[in-house]
Amino acid sequence: MAKEKIEVMYSEEEVNARIRELGAQISADLKGEPVKLVCILKGASFFACELAKRLTVPVYMDFMYVSSYGNGTESSGNVRITKDLDAPIEGENVLIVEDIIDSGHTLHYLSQEFQNRGAAKVMICTLLSKPDRREVDVPVDYVGYVIPDRFVVGYGLDYAQRYRNLPYVGAVEF
Ligand code: IMP
Ligand code: MG
Repeated sequence: MAKEKIEVMYSEEEVNARIRELGAQISADLKGEPVKLVCILKGASFFACELAKRLTVPVYMDFMYVSSYGNGTESSGNVRITKDLDAPIEGENVLIVEDIIDSGHTLHYLSQEFQNRGAAKVMICTLLSKPDRREVDVPVDYVGYVIPDRFVVGYGLDYAQRYRNLPYVGAVEF
């Protein structure tokens, strides 16, 4: 198995501190209203857990698995739900929690889908965003870090299913 070199971009301490800030901001914006976090598996799982712990409003959680990627590094633009939510979201405040926005296809599709299902409000929170790669516009409410066009791993993000468990965010040097 090839071994890639990984350069640390954001340490575990930095990421956790940033997530605390996001949690405080989201809690303030929600003004006591409950929120359903929709965690997009598998990449956002680490982020969603950490974020949920920092919210002071009532939190509900659900999980969805979508795929638009193979084992490579390019989005196909064609999104498919492989594991759906357990419960309807009609009338709820939904916060989609994603690891990274790249082309924007995944979140464009999901925010449309959740509107169609009758959510009262659909918000998006992503740990990372690569605006240079955007192919479709997505209104993002909360972003951890805006990053350049590099392939990143760790804190839930994978390269061909590896490196999710790295406690920091790192860039792969191919
Ligand atoms: P989009 O639909 O192109 O915005 O792709 C979003 C999905 O692509 C994310 O949920 C990730 O799973 C994956 N992805 C995009 N860029 C990266 C990266 O740099 N590292 C790991 N996964 C990535
Ligand atoms: Mg992924």
